[in-house]
Amino acid sequence: MKLFSNESVNLSVLKERAYNMRWAEVPEGVIPLTAADSDFPIAPEIIEAICDYAKTGYFSYTPKLGFPEFRRSISNALKLRKNEDVPENLILPIDSAARAMSIIAKAFLEPGDEAIVFDPVDFLFKTSMEAAGAKIVLFPMKIKDGRIDFSDLEKYITPKTKMLGLCNPHNPLGMVYPLEDLEYLAELSNKYGFYIMNDEIWSDIVYSDAKFNSIVSLGAEKNQRTLSVYGFSKSFGIAGLRSGCIYCQNPALFEKIVEASEVLSTIGGISSLSQVAGMACLDKCYYWVDEFTAQMQRNRDYALERIGKMPLITCRKPAATFVLFPDVSATGMEPEKLTEFLLEKHKVAIVPGGESFFGPGSAGHIRICLATSHAILKEGLDRIERGLHEIAESKR
Ligand SMILES: Cc1ncc(COP(=O)(O)O)c(C=O)c1O
Repeated sequence: MKLFSNESVNLSVLKERAYNMRWAEVPEGVIPLTAADSDFPIAPEIIEAICDYAKTGYFSYTPKLGFPEFRRSISNALKLRKNEDVPENLILPIDSAARAMSIIAKAFLEPGDEAIVFDPVDFLFKTSMEAAGAKIVLFPMKIKDGRIDFSDLEKYITPKTKMLGLCNPHNPLGMVYPLEDLEYLAELSNKYGFYIMNDEIWSDIVYSDAKFNSIVSLGAEKNQRTLSVYGFSKSFGIAGLRSGCIYCQNPALFEKIVEASEVLSTIGGISSLSQVAGMACLDKCYYWVDEFTAQMQRNRDYALERIGKMPLITCRKPAATFVLFPDVSATGMEPEKLTEFLLEKHKVAIVPGGESFFGPGSAGHIRICLATSHAILKEGLDRIERGLHEIAESKR
């Protein structure tokens, strides 16, 4: 059986195990194209590694800063895949990218600080920085000729600015950043002395017609205040194992991260199995990620072609991530109302744009997850199409 065929999706297991707005949480008969989590089973090498470790019968305490072999695997993968030079002693494995963001915010932000968050972007930037006491300053994203317009970013920087959130690639817009934009952000960080929370969880899901550049590849000198996040949920489909890491190129910052993570007191930390799985991902499964990404590219192209023929919806082509972020403002409905209508009437669940998930700049949009089989995606899009036709008819 091919890795990403229609038959490889096991719906009966997903209905028991896939939470977070997915199969286990939607009513029977509904197709969830919601949270960015894959419907495909993970690579066999990860399963084998977990089983081999489990069979020994020992689950002792692990090294506080993570398995040295895991930290080495991360360092190697960052260099080989993304041209990021990060020594293994500046990498902290941790239980998920979400936790990594929360630790970075806690380590470097204090009440009264300001943090710049792009609008729109994944809600975790706002929630992690707010939880650390910072005041969020939204930077409204304007797209000019397919690029983010940073020309007035400096207007949002004040003496209180302590951090800027960089989602690269960008969820939900699916954009990658040219190196010169990253150079500019690094320059601002050094000029004004703010930290960059650089989230690269999507950096493996980049389509063949685009190129991923990492700010970290610019070198340690330019990244004195950059704290990076990686996670295994998107590329390798192991969201439930809660595996991720924080890394940087500045030893003084790393010390603060370790302190804030509470791994030294064993309050915080990542489980042994999650590290074993993470190691198998990086050492053995990039062939799988590349095939998965190719399948996501086919899904992207198919979905864009379908959406192009639907009424009241338009969509920019993403360069990365397995989500689409179409504009549905022509329906005249608030995204929550539209998603409610599609769920109730047409049995397809999607994520609404708007304040709660992606910020006010995402109003008028919905997010569609593509990480499923062609057959399920087709059925989901058929349902969205029927719903949009119904709305278009009612407007006549
Ligand atoms: C940009 C971004 N960062 C972080 C996360 C959280 O990932 P994890 O499952 O590792 O906590 C997500 C999940 O959707 C995401 O899109």
